[in-house]
Amino acid sequence: MTARPPRRAALPPGPREPAALSTARLLWWPMESLLRWRARYGDLFTVRLLAFGVGVYVSDPDEIRALFTGDQSDLRAGEANSPLSPVLGERSVLILDGPEHLRHRRLLLPSFGGAAMPGFREVIREVAEAEVARWRVGERFVARERMRALTFEVIVRAVFGVTEPARIERLRGRLVALLDMAPLFLMPEVLRRDLGGWSPWGRFQRRLRAADALLYEEIARRRADPDLDERADVLSLLLRARDEAGEPMTDRELRDELMTMLLAGHETTATALAFAFDLLPRHPDVLARLRDELAGGDEAYLEAVVTETLRLRPVIDSSERTLTRPRTIGGFELPAGIRVYPAIALVQRRPDLYPQPEAFRPERFLDGRVEAYAWLPFGGGIRRCIGAGLAAAEMAEVIRTVVTRVELRPTRAEPDRVVLRGITLAPQHGTPVVVEALASGRSAAARGSAPAPTAAR
Ligand code: HEM
Repeated sequence: MTARPPRRAALPPGPREPAALSTARLLWWPMESLLRWRARYGDLFTVRLLAFGVGVYVSDPDEIRALFTGDQSDLRAGEANSPLSPVLGERSVLILDGPEHLRHRRLLLPSFGGAAMPGFREVIREVAEAEVARWRVGERFVARERMRALTFEVIVRAVFGVTEPARIERLRGRLVALLDMAPLFLMPEVLRRDLGGWSPWGRFQRRLRAADALLYEEIARRRADPDLDERADVLSLLLRARDEAGEPMTDRELRDELMTMLLAGHETTATALAFAFDLLPRHPDVLARLRDELAGGDEAYLEAVVTETLRLRPVIDSSERTLTRPRTIGGFELPAGIRVYPAIALVQRRPDLYPQPEAFRPERFLDGRVEAYAWLPFGGGIRRCIGAGLAAAEMAEVIRTVVTRVELRPTRAEPDRVVLRGITLAPQHGTPVVVEALASGRSAAARGSAPAPTAAR
């Protein structure tokens, strides 16, 4: 790690090129650009980006620890997420800052604690087994799309607590139609005008109202459910939760948080799984060991595969904070208004922390030790991902179900390139795969009773 330089007022060095060029590099070659800038300018560098302005990337774990511990009242994150407010609402934990943000976090966090995990795992296993049972040998699909359908259902069942298939499909129809309009959220304020059903913003407003009507209906149904006190899904827990003043969450707050968990939790997890299904078959030794360990009833290697996938292929390249007061980071006195990016993707590629950082080697995590500020795919501090436990459980259960039932072979010769899609890093083609039968002797591996897929008709 770097020795602390003396305090300097200037911004850290960085690429001296138009913001449009740095933005284009980050969109199309995110990992290559970030790694090149770090190699050239060091652990702290300044980049100018369209729409985001001046930002400083930080890839020294000690500096990130300083940002994520202690007083963080000078670091705003909600403000940076405000383009999402038309869909998330103003009362979303992602949008709020300060004491209101903390109030929402305290209400939400207990629903995602250790006690919730066995229930989450049961739901995930059911959804994953049903999904894989539908696959046919020879079938081709884009892994990210199938995983998106799967992670959507997990959120609707485990978080919303909706289990009737017809209601799940109704929610899917209306919510996916809305979330598919996400690129619109980046539209400048002046173009956000409802000019009727044919204008983009008008269409968005209609889809939003249709989706909201269903969300409020689910909230009302749950409030009236005579079994509310016994239910373990997140919505039921939130309906029973009280803040420090003894107040429950309002319907508006509940609606905003349901939408937030869906938006923050389903595409991210689907993308992480698509990355896993690109990496595993390209590392046959890892895949073979994973199957052997699962057949022997050992879970440690599966957990290590999840941890290593999130290290090498993080879905979010960096956290994001806006300084409300000047702050000294790495010897530079950064002014208020600057964005600071704790660079998840760069820290996780440091050769001093991870020898041969480009290699996919789950063994490095087999001792179960993960350093908090060296491995941070879920960010950190008072904004650390609320669904981290659910996401990791989802990855483990889905990977287990898939590798013990079928062979998913990527159809592209080369590993899928990592690009920036919206705010997430994603495989450029979503990992196209073909379903193949397991080599004989493998299909009985590990537990479970779902049949191996039959040949395509
Ligand atoms: C592999 C899947 C996922 C990844 C990689 C991921 C990553 C992240 C990251 C990097 C942040 C920002 C942390 C920061 O600013 O320091 C975040 C925030 C958040 N995530 Fe996730 N996430 C995932 C899945 C989920 C799931 C399944 C849920 C909920 C069901 C969820 C809910 C949230 C929420 C509510 C926040 C905002 C927390 C706050 O602002 O206080 N995420 N996530």
